[in-house]
Amino acid sequence: MAGVPVASGSADPIARVFETPAVGQRVRLRGWLQRSRSSGGILFLLLRDRTGFVQATAKRDVIGDAKFTEAEHIQVEGSLRLSGTVAEDRRAPGGREVRVDEIEVIDAGLPFPIFQEQTEEFLLDKRHLAIRSADHVATFRVKAELLRSMRRFLDQEEVLEVTPPIITGNPAEGGAEAFTFDYFGHPGYLSQSAQLYLEALLFPHERVYSLTPSFRAEKSRTTRHITEFMHLEVELAWCDLPELMSFIERMIVDCLHDVAAKRPKELEALGRPPAELAALAAPFPRLTYAEALERLQKVGFPVQWGSDLGTAEERALTLEERSPIFLTHFPRELKAFYMLRSSSDERTVEAADLLAPEGYGEIVGASARETKVDLLVERLRAMGADPSEYEWYLDTRRHGSIPHAGFGVGVERILRWVLRREHIRETTPFPRTPSRHTP
Ligand code: 4AD
Ligand code: MG
Repeated sequence: MAGVPVASGSADPIARVFETPAVGQRVRLRGWLQRSRSSGGILFLLLRDRTGFVQATAKRDVIGDAKFTEAEHIQVEGSLRLSGTVAEDRRAPGGREVRVDEIEVIDAGLPFPIFQEQTEEFLLDKRHLAIRSADHVATFRVKAELLRSMRRFLDQEEVLEVTPPIITGNPAEGGAEAFTFDYFGHPGYLSQSAQLYLEALLFPHERVYSLTPSFRAEKSRTTRHITEFMHLEVELAWCDLPELMSFIERMIVDCLHDVAAKRPKELEALGRPPAELAALAAPFPRLTYAEALERLQKVGFPVQWGSDLGTAEERALTLEERSPIFLTHFPRELKAFYMLRSSSDERTVEAADLLAPEGYGEIVGASARETKVDLLVERLRAMGADPSEYEWYLDTRRHGSIPHAGFGVGVERILRWVLRREHIRETTPFPRTPSRHTP
């Protein structure tokens, strides 16, 4: 904004104040005001930067009347720079404070509109400001750590990162929930899943993954659906369902152990003791769809073969669990056209959903893929799709078709469970839901 001085010079991260040798040293800090109070000629400023918080005390007789008055008028989230000496002070957060001798207001700011007791709607309208809150900061640090960890794991497993398109000419997961638009006079669809492209890329690379946004025009307002989510998808050649499930559980366990080790403070602050993640171990329990029906019927659910297992059913199956569980071998009609028919039971497909414990629901969708063109065409027709639109995909089965399998992880779904968030929108900075695509 106009009048903001150009940033110049170096500064110390706030975290330096709390390093062992810092006491008695002079530091130069910059950041945003968390809160302040003035009493008896002393101004107490709680300053934040990306590395933490520190209390700074500024005395009127040290910095002078004019600077003191100017500093008193900095609003919450106003920006400033200061220099001073680090001192021990038991009353200060973290046991140390900075005794200020120089202060420069960068932008005193207008009164910050975010307080404690505001409605969800207001906070969503002001999301661009609300994301400065401690909960959001912790959430997106954990999210970054999880993404980093998943990429590291996949790299170790020699799975190649590829970049599939977002603009597509045919829906991957069924037309009903695809966002459609006019692409220069042709129907265009925002990607619901990169899978079909990953399957094509698998032939030259054998093991591929992508991390892209996926879009679902789901009108359902639930606490686990957003219309744009981050989708980590993996496709592995020469792989069947049991091998795929063991890959998935190794990845989840490895990555969540890593997140627990690297972000314990953030996890703790958000209500997930890191020890709970560190205790996760493979293999996860496995339950067939048929076994799940039996379990549900015993506790009074009116489900039978062919019933879709929704939020309530998933919740009932996992409420008492501490570990995620795999649900496998669903009836063919409930699942996508590309899933491989089970050879042991023609009614079912070689698919697995991974359900998070504690009732958080599906976090991974996985399957072995159908390799035969005629069976794919049959399933596309049954779905009401036009197989000619999928010619390019069917081609992949005409030139060296091989057994393969893959899965998709909803990054925000995992986080909702890991961070015990009531609503999935808290796991993404700018959530998109049927009622909101702004800010
Ligand atoms: O189960 P889904 O629909 O499977 C696929 O899209 C496969 N093509 C993936 C693959 O095999 N490559 O979606 C995969 C995961 C779900 O398990 C869920 O975690 C997440 O994506 N997901 C959503 N997350 C948030 N909001 C939504 N509306 C979601 N829909 C799916
Ligand atoms: Mg699914």
